[in-house]
Amino acid sequence: MRAHEAGALHGDLGFSGPSWLRTPQDVNALVPQLWSKTVERTASGEMAVGGVNVRKIAEQHGTPAYVFDEADFRARCKAFKEAFGGAEVFYAGKAFIATAVVRILVEEGLSLDVCTGGELAVALRGGMPPERIGLHGNNKSVAELTRAVEAGVGRIIVDSFDEIDRLTAIAESTNTRPKVMVRVTVGVEAHTHEYIATAHEDQKFGFSLSGGAAAQAVDKILAEQKLELRGLHSHIGSQIFDTSGFEVSARRLLSLQAAIHEKHKIELPELDLGGGFGIAYTTQDTPAEPRDLATDLMRIVKQECAALQLSVPHLSIEPGRAIVGPAMFTLYEVGTVKDVDGIRTYVSVDGGMSDNIRTALYDAAYSATVAGRASAEPPILARVVGKHCEAGDIIVKDEFLPADVRAGDLLAVPGTGAYCRSMASNYNHVPRPPVVAVVDGESRVIVRRETEDDLLKLDVG
Ligand code: LLP
Repeated sequence: MRAHEAGALHGDLGFSGPSWLRTPQDVNALVPQLWSKTVERTASGEMAVGGVNVRKIAEQHGTPAYVFDEADFRARCKAFKEAFGGAEVFYAGKAFIATAVVRILVEEGLSLDVCTGGELAVALRGGMPPERIGLHGNNKSVAELTRAVEAGVGRIIVDSFDEIDRLTAIAESTNTRPKVMVRVTVGVEAHTHEYIATAHEDQKFGFSLSGGAAAQAVDKILAEQKLELRGLHSHIGSQIFDTSGFEVSARRLLSLQAAIHEKHKIELPELDLGGGFGIAYTTQDTPAEPRDLATDLMRIVKQECAALQLSVPHLSIEPGRAIVGPAMFTLYEVGTVKDVDGIRTYVSVDGGMSDNIRTALYDAAYSATVAGRASAEPPILARVVGKHCEAGDIIVKDEFLPADVRAGDLLAVPGTGAYCRSMASNYNHVPRPPVVAVVDGESRVIVRRETEDDLLKLDVG
């Protein structure tokens, strides 16, 4: 059961932090696995990224701000692309998408997954060649499907019988033969270090493998011949650290591939194993390197194909978080510091659950550091909270910060590149922060800060 974050009355007296959280030797030290590659603490104690001091970023762009380390993002794109060799890497745009990001993906040779018309619009505006775009979603509208077909997207991952009918009608009216993959629910659910493989597949995505819907979807598409079936697809979960869940899912997908071969005498040319590769949010997380993931996944697929006497399909994967998550941190300014009855110190910053809902929504753990200076004070256990009218408005539940943390300090929270800006809201009419890209000593806004004016414009009276 999840704890209720209702404040001091519910606090754990004498709490000294979760078991994995160690008192740091040096409260100013930056744990490398948590930060993007160009982050450093300068000789004068301030943090810098891409050669730009965080004080300068705050002065120029204000706080809160998401800071995007372009060199780090590019390096992670390259690492996945090189590691997976011949396989196609689709960056999952839902983690974070912006025109500037799409341009970088194009330059780095990655493909792009989108799951709504809005994400598709950004992908096209950023210049992603349509044939390198995949469209997902369990309830794509006629308008979204039509736009995707007219734009010539490379693949649509079909998710229901309704959608097959809808897309077939669009194919007929536009005189096209859209390329599709069938989203298969393989009965594997993976989160962090664990995965569950079950026979039942109780979720909204995909066609059930065990119930036979996946095979029926394939039969229908092949019988009707209006859509070009490219392959099978599965996505098993998020923040996964080992490949055992992928192994089960690949085995199940390929058993369907073998059954299709037997029945229809065709081998589907593509296979997509989805995304979900984990990153380090705190020192307890130990993510795998892309090359180790690649070695494992490719070995699994090759072995299974050999055992089933199938040729190895063209593989694709869809990492979102593992590429953009560590490439960003959020820069806040501390507004108040409260020591609550010796239970813990609450450090309030100028953002909150509107720019990072993951802590409140998933009980996600994050880290933080005082970024604008180094401190000689000892560490104290603190909780970083936002400015929203809600007791559960927590950004970092437990972290050691210097005892002299105070109003006016800049505070940085690493690992906020994925599912933070993309899930941001306007709760309490707080405008959403900008995304500031830094590289080679320069910073530039790639998504501007929302203004009160933007919010008032929506309210037509
Ligand atoms: N492919 C498909 C079909 C997906 O549904 C997803 C994520 C991905 C790829 C990318 O997964 P990634 O590599 O980024 O883990 N809001 C949640 C995560 C939801 C993920 C939804 N699908 C969070 O903040 O943890």
